Amino acid sequence: MLKPDNLRYTKISLNNGFGAIPALGFGTLIPEAIATKHATKAALEAGFRQLDTAERYRTEGEVGEAMQEVFKAGKIKRGDVFIATKLWNNNHRPERVKPAFEASLKRLQLDYIDLYLIHTPFAFQPGDEQDPRDANGNVIYDKGVTLLDTWRTLEGLVDEGRCRAIGLSDVSLEQVKEIFEAARIKPAVVHVESHPYLPQWDLFHYCRKNGIVLQAFAALGHSSEPKLLEDSVITAIAKRVNKTPAQVLLAWAIQRGTALLTTSKNPRRIQENFEVSTLPEDAMREINEGITLRARFNSVVETGVPGFIPRGK
Ligand SMILES: NC(=O)c1ccc[n+]([C@@H]2O[C@H](COP(=O)([O-])OP(=O)(O)OC[C@H]3O[C@@H](n4cnc5c(N)ncnc54)[C@H](OP(=O)(O)O)[C@@H]3O)[C@@H](O)[C@H]2O)c1
Repeated sequence: MLKPDNLRYTKISLNNGFGAIPALGFGTLIPEAIATKHATKAALEAGFRQLDTAERYRTEGEVGEAMQEVFKAGKIKRGDVFIATKLWNNNHRPERVKPAFEASLKRLQLDYIDLYLIHTPFAFQPGDEQDPRDANGNVIYDKGVTLLDTWRTLEGLVDEGRCRAIGLSDVSLEQVKEIFEAARIKPAVVHVESHPYLPQWDLFHYCRKNGIVLQAFAALGHSSEPKLLEDSVITAIAKRVNKTPAQVLLAWAIQRGTALLTTSKNPRRIQENFEVSTLPEDAMREINEGITLRARFNSVVETGVPGFIPRGK
C-alpha cells in the first residue's frame, strides 16, 4: 500500500530561468465545449496546476472562462497556474505568429502565457483555414517558411515578456537538435506522445542532457488499442501497491523525470489522476524493462494532421 506523498506537487525547473513547470498536467483536448469548461474547473479544484490547450483544439475560450471563474472564487490565483497553448500549422509565417499569439491570449483572457509551443513542425498554407486541402483532399503545405524561421519569431515573443517559455511539439529528435543548436533562446519544453508503449528514451536522454523538459502527452494511452491501462505489468503493480492503473502510469511518468498530460471529462477520474504517490523502485524497473510492446497512438508526427481531433472540427 502506498502512502500519500508529495509526488503530485513535483515541479521541474525550466532552462530559461523563469520558474518551473508542475509535472502533473491536465490537457483540454475535449471535443465538447461545455465538457471542456467543466473538466478544466474540476481539474483546478482537484489540484492540477498545469493546463494545456491549443488554438487547434478550439477550447481556449472555455479554458479561459473556467480559469476566470476559478480565479474569481479566490482560492487559486493566476500565478499559481502554469498555462500552455500552441501555435497551429497555418500560422507558421513570421508575420502570422504574433496575431495568432495575441488571439490565443484574448480567448484565454490572460495577459501572459507560461509556455507557447509550436504545435507541429509542419507548416500549412498560410491563411485562416486550419485544415487547408486541395481538390483531391490532400493537405496543402507551405514550403516558404522553415521551423527555424517560426522559432526565431517565438524568441521575439519571449523578448517582449508576454510569453515566459517556448517549446516544440510533435517533433523528432533531429528536429529538436536542429532548433536547439541554432536557437538564441533554447526550447524549454519538448511536448510529444510518450508512455510505456512509447518511452522515447533517445529523445528523453537528449532532453535531460540539455536541460529541456520532456512533456509526455497521452500518458494513459488515450483509451486506444492496445489498452495501456489494461497492460498486465501495469495492472499487477496497481494491485500490489493498491493504486489504480492510471495512478501507476502517471507516477511512472513523473518519477522518470517528465512532465505529463492526462485528460478526463469525469470528475471522479480527474481526482483519481491527481492522487498519485511514489512507486517503489522495483515497479519502475518492471515498467521500464518488462514492457516491450511498442505503439504510437497519434499519427500527427507523420503529416501534421492531428490524429485525436475529429475531421471537420
Ligand atoms: N501536441 C499534440 O499533438 C497533442 C496530441 C494529443 C494530446 N495532446 C495533449 O495531451 C493531453 C492528454 O492526451 P490524451 O487525451 O491522449 O490523454 P490520456 O490521459 O492518455 O487519455 C485520455 C483518455 O483516458 C481516459 N481516462 C482518463 N483518466 C482515466 C482513468 N483514471 N481511468 C481510466 N480512463 C481514464 C479518458 O476518458 P474519460 O474522459 O471518459 O475519463 C480519455 O478517454 C490532451 O488533452 C492535449 O492537451 C497533445
